[in-house]
Amino acid sequence: MMIAGNWKMNGLTADGVNLAKEITVAVKAKKRNCEFVVCPPFTLLSLVKKALRGGKIALGAQDCHAAEKGAHTGDISPVMLKDLGCSYVILGHSERRADHHETSAYVCQKVLAAHQAGLKTIVCIGETLEQREAGKTIDVCSRQVKESLPDGAKAADVVIAYEPVWAIGTGKTPTPQEVEDVHAAVRHVLAKKIGKVEAGKMRILYGGSVKPSNAAEMLSLPDVDGALIGGASLKSADFIAIADNAGC
Ligand code: PGA
Repeated sequence: MMIAGNWKMNGLTADGVNLAKEITVAVKAKKRNCEFVVCPPFTLLSLVKKALRGGKIALGAQDCHAAEKGAHTGDISPVMLKDLGCSYVILGHSERRADHHETSAYVCQKVLAAHQAGLKTIVCIGETLEQREAGKTIDVCSRQVKESLPDGAKAADVVIAYEPVWAIGTGKTPTPQEVEDVHAAVRHVLAKKIGKVEAGKMRILYGGSVKPSNAAEMLSLPDVDGALIGGASLKSADFIAIADNAGC
């Protein structure tokens, strides 16, 4: 089980460091059997890395460029993230697909570059409300998985996050059955793409308005292996309550 926090574009020095320290203390407070990841904005990565020191929480970034270095003003390469102490990077989040016109093919290039740099990837997929209402959810998510993952992707390097776009930051969630249906379909597509063994091992997170009150239900579904948490990851008490309620 993985509990990952996506802080998005939130946090200045003081609150980011405090949040990381609070989470470190709370995670250490009892024996836990989950992997924890926090993904602050680029500006806080180094400081959060220091604040997490001694804890068992992994550091992740929220995006990277597909090139190792070079003339890409304003971008950050996966090698730089590795150098800063990151072990994960989120790629293909729907906010990047929408705000920066990222296609699955481009996400796939970033995934490859991240793996080459020694990072693990959290690859996001998910349908819009329009696509769900048109009955295209499984098609859209299947295509995103096929196109965003490189051939031969390994469960040790990749985590998938299913995040319906209409559930992100809205307080709305699919029903547990709807979540399980998509996760099971994703695993089926993965089995065809990377083989049954790797597909069985690959973690598929649910994301989109995860909070303490729905964590137990969502995270106990058979094909759900954790959560990617946005808004509720900005308060240590909520983030930890999600983990506690999920039995972590
Ligand atoms: P949310 O965001 O938990 O605020 O809905 C999830 C995400 O976008 O990763």
